[in-house]
Amino acid sequence: MKPQKPGSSATTRRGFLKNTGAVSAALAGTFGLNDAFSIEAQTPSSSSGQCGFSQLPHGFVYLNSGTEGSMPDCVVNNFRDGLHKWAGNPTHAYETDAVFNKRQDLNRETVGKFLGVEKNNICLTDNTTMGLSMTLMGLNFQPGDRVVASNHEHNAILSPLAVQRATMGLEVITRAFPPAHTLRDMNSDELLDTLFPDSPSLRGAKALCVSHVYPTTGVRLPLKALRRKADQLNIRYLVVDGAQAMGMIDLGTDNDNITLSDFYACPGHKWLNGPPSTGVLYLRNANIRPPEFHPTLSQRMGEYTGGNEVFPMAEALQVRGCSNTPGFAAMIRALHFQQEMGGPAQIEKQILSMSQRVKNHILNRAPSAMVSPHLDPTLKSGLSVFFPFNWDKPKQLFTDKARADWVVRELLKKGIQIRSIGFTNAGAKNNNAEKMYALRVSTGIFNTVDQVEIFNRALTSVLKNIA
Ligand SMILES: Cc1ncc(COP(=O)(O)O)c(C=O)c1O
Repeated sequence: MKPQKPGSSATTRRGFLKNTGAVSAALAGTFGLNDAFSIEAQTPSSSSGQCGFSQLPHGFVYLNSGTEGSMPDCVVNNFRDGLHKWAGNPTHAYETDAVFNKRQDLNRETVGKFLGVEKNNICLTDNTTMGLSMTLMGLNFQPGDRVVASNHEHNAILSPLAVQRATMGLEVITRAFPPAHTLRDMNSDELLDTLFPDSPSLRGAKALCVSHVYPTTGVRLPLKALRRKADQLNIRYLVVDGAQAMGMIDLGTDNDNITLSDFYACPGHKWLNGPPSTGVLYLRNANIRPPEFHPTLSQRMGEYTGGNEVFPMAEALQVRGCSNTPGFAAMIRALHFQQEMGGPAQIEKQILSMSQRVKNHILNRAPSAMVSPHLDPTLKSGLSVFFPFNWDKPKQLFTDKARADWVVRELLKKGIQIRSIGFTNAGAKNNNAEKMYALRVSTGIFNTVDQVEIFNRALTSVLKNIA
């Protein structure tokens, strides 16, 4: 199969539409654009309708959106144009420009529309880490309060929880994921009952802190089932790390609606293909305020001490000095781009179907190498995780870092980027809590069927030589 040329039909917006059959949905343009911020007004260079990922070099198969996404041309152009505008009139940009000013009303409103919520439920952040820190440092935990997390949480959750534990005695209850050989065959109820059983130590905890999609195993925890769990266990706040979901999962469905969480922090720079240093924090309670929640990174705490009862917390968190507002504007362009490609439902379908091709390649040869769930569709994501194995002796699995990194390097020599990922397989039979290492493949919106086949063939040849 020939690699795609940059700007060829498979890598442009039109090519994507043709590939996915989403033409009519995209042309219908369901996204309510604000006149002051229409795509044409912001990105004249994109009005030709050609918005490919031409920055990715010809022949490079990039399968690592889970670490960083790329940016389509219309987003790159929007970002560049925004920086030019800022540089031409900085004071106006920071104070009063509708798109770039420090309060970000317009961009917050547009993100809100995309997610089906209000402007005051949305704060624009630098990344997931910032949103989670604002949340977990902002909640008014008391000494002895309990929070529940899993042993696969990212440091973006663990680090603020560790600060709260060290400074005021928060108790963090860590629940272990089942071992990979059990996990891959589980359904959502079995998994959630194993992770968060109805037990006295979990009941009445202050917060359940989880990832929507786990970077370690690719498991998606459906938000509806998580909400039910939190309610059953009488846990007050559901705090969700959406780093691996925004731009991949449709956050408007019954099963995965963002409004089922109390706080949802996610990036613009991974699956959404927005610029670096962009993210979103969703706060379900737009009227939350001290003493329940404090704006830790903000210039607006004074609004609450001065007797103002109604100042929106999302705005208090937004006004925090000079932010990367040209980046936020370009992230909005990435949201429009998603709509042009058929919208989040279509994108999720596309990403998961690509991911299934990777999963099938592994399952057909070495089912015991699979880590990601493959039976229950509600647990699946665009991340495919599996242990390296000997292609000619497929029961021979490898779980060490050196071999996983070797596979990554060998694939990179062939122009294919994936990554290795370490995690604690605490439930493993040998009860060895040391890290195991697997391979992780992210099938992003710019990847084509041809590219996935190139990857599958290259993986086969690398695994034939693993020793
Ligand atoms: C689950 C999870 N949370 C948080 C992060 C950090 O994301 P950000 O760079 O947006 O803070 C990552 C990055 O890979 C992640 O996978």
